Amino acid sequence: MIVERAAALLAEHGVETARTDAEWIVAHVVGVKRSELAVGSRDVDDTAVWPLVQRRANREPLAYVLGEWGFRGLTLRCDSRALVPRPETETVVEVCLELLHESANPRVLDVGTGTGAIALALADEVDGVEVVATDASLDALELARENAKRTGLSVDLVHQDLRHGLPPGPFDLVVCNPPYVLAEEIDSLEPEVRDWEPREALVDAGQADELARRALDVLLPGAPLVLEAHAEHAKETGEMLASLGYEVRIVPDLAGRDRVVVGKKRS
Ligand SMILES: C[S@@+](CC[C@H](N)C(=O)[O-])C[C@H]1O[C@@H](n2cnc3c(N)ncnc32)[C@H](O)[C@@H]1O
Repeated sequence: MIVERAAALLAEHGVETARTDAEWIVAHVVGVKRSELAVGSRDVDDTAVWPLVQRRANREPLAYVLGEWGFRGLTLRCDSRALVPRPETETVVEVCLELLHESANPRVLDVGTGTGAIALALADEVDGVEVVATDASLDALELARENAKRTGLSVDLVHQDLRHGLPPGPFDLVVCNPPYVLAEEIDSLEPEVRDWEPREALVDAGQADELARRALDVLLPGAPLVLEAHAEHAKETGEMLASLGYEVRIVPDLAGRDRVVVGKKRS
């Protein structure tokens, strides 16, 4: 059966989630949900499945192989132009929703938008919100634009390197999932990340510090900067924000890891 054969090949190539990934790929080709895949009960076209299995065996991320990925209520186009949106980033959106729940028609800035995941989720889930999103990568912005079109959501996409500035404020909230892998850690990462995801989306080049300084010029008094952080560096990120005068709160994710750092600009 094709799922078994695909899973065996993926396992041989060191894919830890071989069985579920094989099911995802076959379900994608058949055009059903993975939960609806009754293995063996369908005529599956081997020639459509096998090239995707080969790509996954080559340790390309499953999201790139499928060409789309779920993020909160949205299904986003996903390929090597941008980072695959992660489950922990859904927690970042959750924190933004809590912070915005009393704001009427808020203006929000998402810096380093990648696929557009955070910006589009906020556009989808916050009534009356105006979302501006930036990225230094033209490739990522193009993908975010495709995702805005695909989801029918409105986000103002701006090509901008945060080291050269931010879009004009005032904003009720600034959010960012900055690159936070240290350059010396790259070689130790899984091949899916190390060999396939864009380096500029991964490697920490001081973007969080630079953004924290610049955000003070565009945030309304009392408004928050929300940063995703490496679980082991959240405390440092909090200290960096405090040194710039922000009031800091660190929010754990569902697994209890410190993944989100909120800095409120003082009133
Ligand atoms: C970790 S990825 C986050 C992508 C997306 N927000 C998400 O959460 O899935 C970081 C993003 O920041 C962008 N980026 C990196 N350096 C930047 C800079 N100096 N100015 C603006 N964007 C930058 C990258 O191109 C990448 O899309």
